[in-house]
Amino acid sequence: MTKPLRKAVLPVAGLGTRFLPATKAIAKEMLPVVDKPLIQYAIEEARAAGIEQFCMVTGRGKTALVEHFDIAFELERTLQERNKTEALEALKATQVEPGSMVTVRQQVPLGLGHAIWCARAFIGDDPFAILLPDDLVLSQTPCLRQLADAYRDTGGNVVAVTEVPREHTNRYGILRIGKDDGRMVEVTGLVEKPAPQDAPSNLSIIGRYVLMPEVIGHLAKMERGAGNEVQLTDGMAKLIGNQPFHGLRYEGRRFDCGDKVGFLEAQIAFALKRPDLADAVRSFLKSYV
Ligand code: G1P
Repeated sequence: MTKPLRKAVLPVAGLGTRFLPATKAIAKEMLPVVDKPLIQYAIEEARAAGIEQFCMVTGRGKTALVEHFDIAFELERTLQERNKTEALEALKATQVEPGSMVTVRQQVPLGLGHAIWCARAFIGDDPFAILLPDDLVLSQTPCLRQLADAYRDTGGNVVAVTEVPREHTNRYGILRIGKDDGRMVEVTGLVEKPAPQDAPSNLSIIGRYVLMPEVIGHLAKMERGAGNEVQLTDGMAKLIGNQPFHGLRYEGRRFDCGDKVGFLEAQIAFALKRPDLADAVRSFLKSYV
């Protein structure tokens, strides 16, 4: 019996330098894809996977992320008075259960591993999910749901993986793989951002993880890795051999919204899935290409 997965950590302390000046005064996770901020996609995906408790690892200038999931009393009142039912419905989706969302602060940007370690009190002895809101996945079944289901079957650690071109291995955490049934792969090693010639495969981790709490003990050593940062990938690598560790080739399409082209592509792909927008978007697209 695996312990139920109820907690998720969302690291949102990044500076968003790739989207300056848009991110000068607002968090990059508040940038919308169509009409919803990236952080809300992540929270909705987590909920759909059965997550009940959320921890955002924030930094300076990120208060809007907390506000976003609070009640906007005056705004709701005004909308009610004006009978704006659709707008009110949209606001409802931003509300979380009282007391279900906490934040911790990562005061210094020492890397993703350090950010996760900052959530150690929240994680405690429980398995937990990580969602990196920059990675947006368009799929039939929400990506984290797919991971949570796989976790229930196998136990231990499960990360979402996808094949990338060889020349891009230096952008991701890369797997060394053992047994592979085409969907689930056994992870025998992990390397953060290896050069193409050093990469043990071209199977990369995307920003969805189900991890065991023991990873925290490894991260606590604060060993520096790629880019002189405390890397989550290095902490996870230490679990291999002691606990099950699998990669799941998820069903769906991933958009790297930390990258300008990926972000633009996500806008189009998500808009084309919207019944209220698809026709209009398809027809204007034709005029450009
Ligand atoms: C992080 C992780 C990397 C992972 C990637 C997925 O990298 O360190 O292992 O493959 O997210 O998006 P970052 O995008 O923060 O450089």
